[in-house]
Amino acid sequence: MTNKASSPIIIAIDGYSSSGKSSMAKRLAKTIGYRYIDSGAMYRAVTLYAMRHGMISNDGSVDVDKLTAALPDIHIDFAVENDTQYTMLNGENVEAEIRSMAVSNNVSPIAAIAQVRHALVAMQQSFGFEKGIVMDGRDIGTTVFPSAEMKIFVTASPQTRAQRRFLELTDKGHAITFEEVLANVVSRDHIDETRAESPLRRADDAIELDNSTMTIDEQNKWLLDRYHEITGA
Ligand code: DC
Repeated sequence: MTNKASSPIIIAIDGYSSSGKSSMAKRLAKTIGYRYIDSGAMYRAVTLYAMRHGMISNDGSVDVDKLTAALPDIHIDFAVENDTQYTMLNGENVEAEIRSMAVSNNVSPIAAIAQVRHALVAMQQSFGFEKGIVMDGRDIGTTVFPSAEMKIFVTASPQTRAQRRFLELTDKGHAITFEEVLANVVSRDHIDETRAESPLRRADDAIELDNSTMTIDEQNKWLLDRYHEITGA
C-alpha cells in the first residue's frame, strides 16, 4: 500500500455495523477533499425499493426473482446540499427513510443476494473510476476495490456499537429499546459474516482499528495520520 505523493487514491473503510466508520470516512473525505460514498446506503436504498414494491413478505423472505428483474430500474446516487449528503433513489431523497429500523431489519437478507451485490459492486466501482474517493462498507477492500491504496478495518464491541446506534436513533425520536438495537446489531453481524457472497472480513492488507475506547476526535486523527503515512502528502 504505497502511493506517490499527491496523486488521488482509493480509501476503503470496512467494518461492523455502527462501528462509527461512516462518520470517520465522511470526515476524512471532507478534510482531504475527496468524494465520500456510503455503500451501506446503497443496500438500504435497494431494501426500501423492495419493501415499497411488496417484494419482502411478513416473514422476511424476499422475492429474489422479482427484485433481480427490477434491478435495472433502480438508480442510486448521492446529492450534496449545504455540506450534507443525501441518498437518492430514482431521483427521490430517501436519506431519512433508509435509516429507519424497518429498513435496518430487512437490509441484511437483501445484501446477501448475489444479483444485488453484483449490481451494486459495479455501481460502486464506477464511482471510484477517477479515484479521490473514500468508500465505506463491508467488502470495499476485499471485493469492490481489492487494489485500494489505503484499507482500514474498523471494529468495536457489539455493546459499544449498539449503544452508539441507540443514542443516534433516540436522538432522532425513534421509540426503541437498547435491547432491540443490540439484537439488531448482533443479528446483522452474524448475517454479514456468514453470507456466501462477499462476507464481511478484514482484507489481509487492511489496517485494523478497534475504536471501542476512542473518542471521535482520536479516531479522526488516527485515520488522517494513516492517510498522510500512506500518501506521503
Ligand atoms: O453500514 P450499514 O449499516 O448502513 O449497512 C447496511 C447493510 O448493508 C448491512 O447489513 C450490511 C450491508 N452492506 C454490505 O453487505 N456491503 C456493503 N459494502 C455495505 C453494507
